[in-house]
Amino acid sequence: MDYFNYQDGTLCAEQVSLASLAKEHGTPLYVYSRATIERHWQAFNVAAGEREHLICYAVKANSNLGVLNLLARLGSGFDIVSGGELARVIEAGGDPSKVVFSGVGKTADEIAQALDAGIFCFNVESQSELERISEVATARGQIAPISLRINPDIDAKTHPYISTGLKENKFGIAYEQALSVYQTAASLPGIEIHGVDCHIGSQLTELAPFIEAVDKLLLLIDQLADVGISIAHLDVGGGLGVTYHDEVPPAPSEYAKVLHERLGSRNITLLFEPGRAIMANAGVLLTKVEYLKLGQDKNFALVDAAMNDLIRPALYGAWQNIVPVQQNQQAPEREYDVVGPVCETGDFLGKSRKLAIQAHDILAVRSAGAYGFVMSSNYNSRPRAAEILVDGEQAYVVRERETRPSLWLGEHLLPS
Ligand code: LLP
Repeated sequence: MDYFNYQDGTLCAEQVSLASLAKEHGTPLYVYSRATIERHWQAFNVAAGEREHLICYAVKANSNLGVLNLLARLGSGFDIVSGGELARVIEAGGDPSKVVFSGVGKTADEIAQALDAGIFCFNVESQSELERISEVATARGQIAPISLRINPDIDAKTHPYISTGLKENKFGIAYEQALSVYQTAASLPGIEIHGVDCHIGSQLTELAPFIEAVDKLLLLIDQLADVGISIAHLDVGGGLGVTYHDEVPPAPSEYAKVLHERLGSRNITLLFEPGRAIMANAGVLLTKVEYLKLGQDKNFALVDAAMNDLIRPALYGAWQNIVPVQQNQQAPEREYDVVGPVCETGDFLGKSRKLAIQAHDILAVRSAGAYGFVMSSNYNSRPRAAEILVDGEQAYVVRERETRPSLWLGEHLLPS
């Protein structure tokens, strides 16, 4: 559930009219709802219940400082994949001791940065990375808390680009090698084993693959206990899907219920790394219709947002709902491809959408709070959009629109 609703014919974020935000701040414009973000985070927190747990929000989904700060205020942990994300978490007031560090290519510098910050755990993705962490920690006289990210070879049944738990994917340590890599970890200096971790993919709409993965990991935890390696936490990763169209993903409560059943009376802390489930439906991208181009075969609505602002439709063929911010009584309904001004045929936000619109109308691309702004670029020298965080009747600019001169910041001419 989210807090984007029509009030008197105008789509609002909480109590704030999106039409007035577009007017005041221009378009393209990302708008997030605080109440929605908090509601989604609390859904995980409540679902985790009495069991000791940590919700590590996946920063990659939306790393705006304003968003991270809200989550930090709730007591959230964070899942990061780079030194940049760690710096953002700290800048936003997040607690480094609640940070897990995922990702297949951590550099020595990033490892040192995370050790200095005192993170909760490194989610280690290969034996070579484990050895690197051991070296860096030992050289600094520190101990690195680790879990191994296990690749359980399970089909998450999602888009191939966001499926991560199959043998053929680059992520994690093969299930068959897990026991021996844990034994290596136990023998390495500068390493302390804390947990077991996995993340099998994103936008999962069924529970079965999650359950299959957890069952395999619990088996591994038992095998580890047999060889004297005890595991304090189980990190089940992120991946819970959201409704973009007509998907009916499990609620966090349903997911957690199954996990609680599986974990039973085991004394183990549960970690979640949700990104999309918290942010996707907590944000919209506002865009203005510039032109309508009517044709014999196709009609195009040319809008001022493009693939550089929201790349999911172009990159994954993702479907996101596109709705008018205000009903237009004058315009006839037609079927449009909603496309941006970027010089690529793949530059579309939606295809074959029935809309009653005319030039200058404002459209909202729904479910744009996750993997929206964070994946945007300056392609075609387009300054990136502003971001607004709505809280009740108030709207705050949490990122200013980029200016044209900011496009070449840090660039230099050759000497004459
Ligand atoms: N943990 C790890 C280790 C991850 O790799 C990811 C996402 C998450 C947690 C969060 O997953 P979520 O709860 O958001 O599904 N750009 C793509 C999604 C890429 C997801 C990458 N990893 C998209 O727009 O669909």
